[in-house]
Amino acid sequence: MDAQRNEKEQDYRLTGVKKAAENRLHGSHLMNELKNRLNTPLTLRGRTVANRLWLAPMAGLGHIAFRQVLDGFGGCGLMMTEMTSAKALPNENPKISPVFRWREEELPRLVCQLMGSQPQEMADAALRVQDEGFFGVDVNMGCSVSAIVKRRAGAALLREPDRAVEIVRAMRKAVDIPLMVKFRTGWENDPSGAVELARRFEDAGVDCLVFHPRVSPDRRSRPPVLEHLRQVCEAVDIPVIGNGNVFLPVDGLKMLDTTGCDGLSLGRMAVARPWLFSSWCSNFTPGADIHRITALAMLDALEEHYEPTRAVKLYKKYAIYLAANFSFGVRLLPKLTAGDSIEQFRENARRELTGEQALATRPNIHLFTR
Ligand SMILES: Cc1cc2nc3c(=O)[nH]c(=O)nc-3n(C[C@H](O)[C@H](O)[C@H](O)COP(=O)(O)O)c2cc1C
Repeated sequence: MDAQRNEKEQDYRLTGVKKAAENRLHGSHLMNELKNRLNTPLTLRGRTVANRLWLAPMAGLGHIAFRQVLDGFGGCGLMMTEMTSAKALPNENPKISPVFRWREEELPRLVCQLMGSQPQEMADAALRVQDEGFFGVDVNMGCSVSAIVKRRAGAALLREPDRAVEIVRAMRKAVDIPLMVKFRTGWENDPSGAVELARRFEDAGVDCLVFHPRVSPDRRSRPPVLEHLRQVCEAVDIPVIGNGNVFLPVDGLKMLDTTGCDGLSLGRMAVARPWLFSSWCSNFTPGADIHRITALAMLDALEEHYEPTRAVKLYKKYAIYLAANFSFGVRLLPKLTAGDSIEQFRENARRELTGEQALATRPNIHLFTR
């Protein structure tokens, strides 16, 4: 009887080992597949981007300091600035503007996102972006924050398709750098308006679309609708980059496979794990101390580029996504952000991010949807 049980246990163990090996094999196969898909260059208006894994624009997160940390790891094909007001832009001084600011060396891979509703204003701003030497210019047609929508900008433009097209036409006339539009499904759960707009953008001379298949009132709580992205991709010949809830390699492959999109744009996950571009596109393997190293690099970069009050505010915003990496992220967050100085945050990071905390495979969604 005992011998029989032993044999059975042995069997179970062997099955477990085999399963783990199969999973590893599946994991590495999946990773290689993703790498191959993402590592294909993409040319927009004669300018080549090395790969198809890009940073999504994020107000308050995608600033110069964050991009410096991201660049330190490498692997990101194209980076986006935070949205910049077209109205303010002609008079913006990069030395003092918190948003319209960059490092010279990132310009060949940096796209400036503009927010606005007046065609002439947007065209003038695009011209300034071109003159400063950015890779390209992008139009925000996705932001549904009320302050932006009230100004008829962001996702509000999806309710005024003629105005949206007029804006990109004016910008196309003004500049010769790659012109992109980032937009969403629209205000109703029906992709036909977005599909029609995608075609009209292509006709108006847009070089690339970044599509986030969610309706505008939905601030990232429900999953994106891949079928909407598929329809947009099918409607146009210009590249369409997919965006929304790509957290793990399997999410990225699913988006690429089921929609036929030409690349991926990562938002929150890029902030949580800025080394991910290098992991997915090259061979970077993070060590157990990666979170501490990244937090300290972020603090150094914030201190280098911003005055203390703003640096503190920006770190607190970043730390939400850093904490989302951990199983007990909600409890960790106040420990990381206790105090009100960069030096205190450094001490917190050294004390709390020891590499022993349990990691969440998928980011903590409560923190990600704050
Ligand atoms: C804090 C925050 C700020 C954002 N700001 C912008 C923005 O300025 N312009 C824009 O087009 N999208 C903005 N987005 C939307 C992201 O670019 C992206 O579409 C969204 O987060 C979904 O992608 P993800 O699941 O990879 O994060 C923002 C998102 C977040 C979380």
